[in-house]
Amino acid sequence: MAALKVIVASICFQGILAQSSSETTVSTAVPSPSAALDSPLPSQVPDPPTQAWCPSEIFCAGPLLQTVNVAALYSDPKTFVDKPTNKPAEDVLFDFENLTSGNVTEGQIVDFVDADFRGEGLELEALTLDNFNEDPPFLANVSDSLLRAWAQTVHGYWTQLIRTTNSSVLCSGTACESSLIPLNHTFVVPGGRFREQYYWDSFWIVEGLLESQLYDIVNDTLQNFMDELDTIGFIPNGGRIYYLNRSQPPLFIQMLFRYITVTNDTSILTRALPLAEKELDWWQENRTVNVTSPSTNKVHEMARYAVNNTAPRPESYLTDYLTANGPDVSPPLNESQRSSLYAELASGAETGWDYTSRWFSNPAAGNSDLKQLNVRNTIPVDLNSILYRNHIIMEQLYSDNETAAMKHHDKATSVREGILDLSWNSTKMGFYDFNIASGTQNHVFSAASYYPVWSGITPVEILRSAEDAFKYFAPLNLVLKRYNGTFPSTFLDTSLQWDFPNTWAPHQYIILQALRALPSHIADVTLFALSSNQSSFNLLPADQLGISESQLPSQTLLSGVNATNLGHQADINTLNGTVLNGGNTTIYEGWSQTLQRELANRYFASAFCSWHATGGEIPGILPRLSDAELNVTQSVNNTGNMFEKFSSLDIDSAGRGGEYTVQAGFGWTNGVVLWIASVYGDILATPNCPALLANTA
Ligand SMILES: *[C@@H]1O[C@H](CO)[C@@H](O)[C@H](O)[C@H]1NC(C)=O
Ligand SMILES: *[C@@H]1O[C@H](CO)[C@@H](O)[C@H](O)[C@H]1NC(C)=O
Ligand SMILES: *[C@@H]1O[C@H](CO)[C@@H](O)[C@H](O)[C@H]1NC(C)=O
Ligand SMILES: *[C@@H]1O[C@H](CO)[C@@H](O)[C@H](O)[C@H]1NC(C)=O
Ligand SMILES: *[C@@H]1O[C@H](CO)[C@@H](O)[C@H](O)[C@H]1NC(C)=O
Ligand SMILES: *[C@@H]1O[C@H](CO)[C@@H](O)[C@H](O)[C@H]1NC(C)=O
Ligand SMILES: *[C@@H]1O[C@H](CO)[C@@H](O)[C@H](O)[C@H]1NC(C)=O
Ligand SMILES: *[C@@H]1O[C@H](CO)[C@@H](O)[C@H](O)[C@H]1NC(C)=O
Ligand SMILES: *[C@@H]1O[C@H](CO)[C@@H](O)[C@H](O)[C@H]1NC(C)=O
Ligand SMILES: *[C@@H]1O[C@H](CO)[C@@H](O)[C@H](O)[C@H]1NC(C)=O
Ligand SMILES: *[C@@H]1O[C@H](CO)[C@@H](O)[C@H](O)[C@H]1NC(C)=O
Ligand SMILES: *[C@@H]1O[C@H](CO)[C@@H](O)[C@H](O)[C@H]1NC(C)=O
Repeated sequence: MAALKVIVASICFQGILAQSSSETTVSTAVPSPSAALDSPLPSQVPDPPTQAWCPSEIFCAGPLLQTVNVAALYSDPKTFVDKPTNKPAEDVLFDFENLTSGNVTEGQIVDFVDADFRGEGLELEALTLDNFNEDPPFLANVSDSLLRAWAQTVHGYWTQLIRTTNSSVLCSGTACESSLIPLNHTFVVPGGRFREQYYWDSFWIVEGLLESQLYDIVNDTLQNFMDELDTIGFIPNGGRIYYLNRSQPPLFIQMLFRYITVTNDTSILTRALPLAEKELDWWQENRTVNVTSPSTNKVHEMARYAVNNTAPRPESYLTDYLTANGPDVSPPLNESQRSSLYAELASGAETGWDYTSRWFSNPAAGNSDLKQLNVRNTIPVDLNSILYRNHIIMEQLYSDNETAAMKHHDKATSVREGILDLSWNSTKMGFYDFNIASGTQNHVFSAASYYPVWSGITPVEILRSAEDAFKYFAPLNLVLKRYNGTFPSTFLDTSLQWDFPNTWAPHQYIILQALRALPSHIADVTLFALSSNQSSFNLLPADQLGISESQLPSQTLLSGVNATNLGHQADINTLNGTVLNGGNTTIYEGWSQTLQRELANRYFASAFCSWHATGGEIPGILPRLSDAELNVTQSVNNTGNMFEKFSSLDIDSAGRGGEYTVQAGFGWTNGVVLWIASVYGDILATPNCPALLANTA
C-alpha cells in the first residue's frame, strides 16, 4: 500500500503550470515486505542464464536481482530496477556477496536496498513549459461547454507528464549504476509506473501533442527515437536497459508522418529517412518469417513479435519467476520449457498487448494461464498492418527518389497480399491472426481486426456495398447497444488486461480511423439495420466473434443483477434509434457517421465519468463529488484520474486485471481525448454518468 501511495506522488508532483523545474520531487517507495523482517528468505530456484543483451549485474537477471525479488519488498517489481545505486556497482555487488555468504533474512535485504540504492526514477524531472498555450485552437471545435472545459483540463495534464533527464544526478563513469537510458531530449511519459519514454504509447501521445500545438515536444520525442535508432539499432519498448531485447508496435514512421503533415517541417527528413530505413531493416531481419498460405499455397514474408530471452523480465521479475516456478506450476517445467516461457513472456510484452487470450494456444473465457502463450507462432494482423502503412508512408516521403519509393511500394504490396491471404476471412467479414504452428487462422476476434482498414487495406468484400461494410463493423454496433463503455480488446473475459472487459484508447482511435477510411459511397448511406429493433447479435456474420451469443459476457447493472445477454432485450442501451451516451442523432447521417458519433461520445463518456468518479473537478464549472460518493476502490489520488484502460461494463471505473495496479496519468488516454475533441467536437454531448451524475444533480 505504501508503495502505491508513493507512485502516486510521482505522477502529480507538478500540478501547477508555473513551477520551477529545479524542484525535483524524488519518490521513494517504502519497502513493505509481507514476510517478517527476521524471517529467512524463501528458497530460490537456480539463477537463469546471463542475458547477453542486458549489460548490468544489478538490474538484469542474475543472483542479485533474483534475491531482491524473492524478498518481495515492493508491490511492483519494477520499483527496484528503477532505483539507481548510490555507489559504484562493484561496491553494491560486494555488499550483496558479503550479505549472502550466510543465511540472509528479509530485514537484511531491506537494509541492503535502503543503504545502496536511491529513489526510483530520480534521474527524470518535470519541465516547465515556457510557451504553454492554455487555449489551443482545437478547443473551439468542442461545442458542449462542459466538455470543452474538460478537454482543456486534459490538455493541461501535459504539464504533469513532460520529463527531461536531470543530468546533474545521472550516474557518471563508475560512480553509480542505473537502468535508465538517458535521452537527450524532452519527452512525455505515460504516467504512474511508466516513468520513461515508451515506444507505441508515444503515437497517441503525439496525436494529442499535435492538437495541443506542442510541436517542439513532438520533435524532441522523435529526436529521442532517432538517437535510439542511431545508438541501439532499433527502438526499444521503453527507455530502460532492461527493455533492450525487445521493441513494440513500430509506429515511429507514423509519428514522423503526422508531425510533418501538421508542422510542414520536412527538414527533419534528412536525418529521419535513413533511420526509418534502419528500423524497417531491423524488423525485416529480426522479426520476419516466410509463411505459406493454406488457401493459395503462396509464400508471404510476414512479421511477428519474437524476443530472444531466457530469463524473467527484470521489471516483472517476480511475476515471471512465479509464472514459471510458482507453487501452482505442476508438474514443474523443465529447463527448455522454462526458457521458452520466458521468451514468450517477453514477446508478449513486445506486442503491446501484455497479455491477452489472443496470444494463447487454447484461448477461452476464464483461461489466464500464461504458460499457453504462443506469441512467436502468431502472425499478428495489427503488426503487419502497421508495417504496411509504414511502407506506404515511406513511398510518399521519397517523393523525389523514385527508386526508393518503388522499393517501398513493392514491399507494401506484398505485405498487403499476405494480410489479405492469411488474415482476411470473407465469410466471417473479419481479420484474424494467423497461426504458423497450425497453418490456420485463429478464431479469437479482437480489436486488431480493424487495423488493416485503418492502414488502408480494404478487402473487396467490404467495398461491395454499405450492407457488407457494415458487417465488418457489426461488432462495434453490438458493443454500443449492449454494453455501457467502449470497444473491448476481445470478447473473452480471462482477467488478463488485454481481454474483456478492458477497453483501451488506441483501439478506439483505430476503429474510428477505420470508419473514416471507408469511401463515401459506402459510408454515407443510411442503413435500416442500425435503427431497427433487430438484435445486434443477429446482425453479425455467423461465427464472426467465434463464440455463441450466450457465451458473450453480460452487462452488469447497478442493481447488481445482469442484463440478459440474449436477444434484442440484451441491447439495453438502444434508445429511440440511438444509443445511450452516444450523442444526438443528426439528420442525413450515414451509418458510418452514426457509429463514429456513438463511439466518439462513448469514449468521452468513459474517460470523463471515470475521471469525475475519482474526484475530478473544474473550478467554477463542475464541482467535485463528495468523498463519500467517490469511486474509492480505483481512485489513485482522489483528484480525477485519467486511466490507462477502461471497462466496457462500467464507465465510472477503470479497467481491471493485469500484472500491476491500474495506472493513471495517462499519455495515450489523454492523446485520444484531445484528438476526438478536435475531430468530433461538434457532436459531443454531455455524458450521462451512471449514478454518480445523479448524485450531483
Ligand atoms: C559483511 O557483513 C557483516 C554482517 O553480515 C558485517 O559485519 C561486515 O562489516 C561486512 N563486511 C564488509 C566488508 O562490509
Ligand atoms: C542456514 O540455515 C540452514 C537451515 O535453516 C542451517 O542448517 C544452516 O546452518 C544455516 N547456515 C548458517 C551459515 O547460518
Ligand atoms: C528539432 O530538434 C532538433 C534537435 O534538437 C533541432 O535541431 C531542430 O531545429 C528542431 N526542429 C524544429 C523545427 O524546431
Ligand atoms: C546523448 O548525447 C550523448 C552526448 O552527445 C551521447 O553520448 C549519447 O549517446 C546520446 N544518447 C543517445 C540515446 O543517443
Ligand atoms: C502547413 O501547411 C499547410 C498548407 O500549406 C498550412 O495550411 C498549415 O497552416 C501549415 N502548418 C503550419 C503549422 O505552419
Ligand atoms: C538484428 O538483431 C541483431 C541482434 O540484436 C543485431 O545485431 C542486428 O543488427 C539486427 N539486424 C538489423 C538489420 O538491424
Ligand atoms: C537469438 O539468439 C540466437 C542464439 O543466441 C541467435 O543465433 C539469434 O541470431 C538471435 N536472434 C535475434 C533476433 O537476435
Ligand atoms: C523467404 O523466401 C524467399 C524465397 O526463398 C527468400 O528470398 C527470403 O529471404 C525468405 N525470407 C525470410 C524472411 O526468410
Ligand atoms: C534513393 O534512395 C536510395 C535508398 O533506397 C539511395 O540509395 C539513393 O542514393 C537515393 N537516390 C537519390 C537520388 O537520392
Ligand atoms: C473463415 O472462417 C471459417 C469459419 O471459422 C473457416 O472455416 C474458414 O477456413 C476461414 N477462412 C480462412 C481463409 O481461413
Ligand atoms: C454478470 O456479468 C458479469 C460480467 O459479465 C459476470 O462476471 C457475472 O458472473 C455475471 N453474473 C451472473 C449472476 O450471471
Ligand atoms: C449500464 O447502463 C444501464 C443503462 O442503459 C444502467 O441501467 C446500468 O446500471 C449501467 N451499469 C453500470 C455498471 O453502470
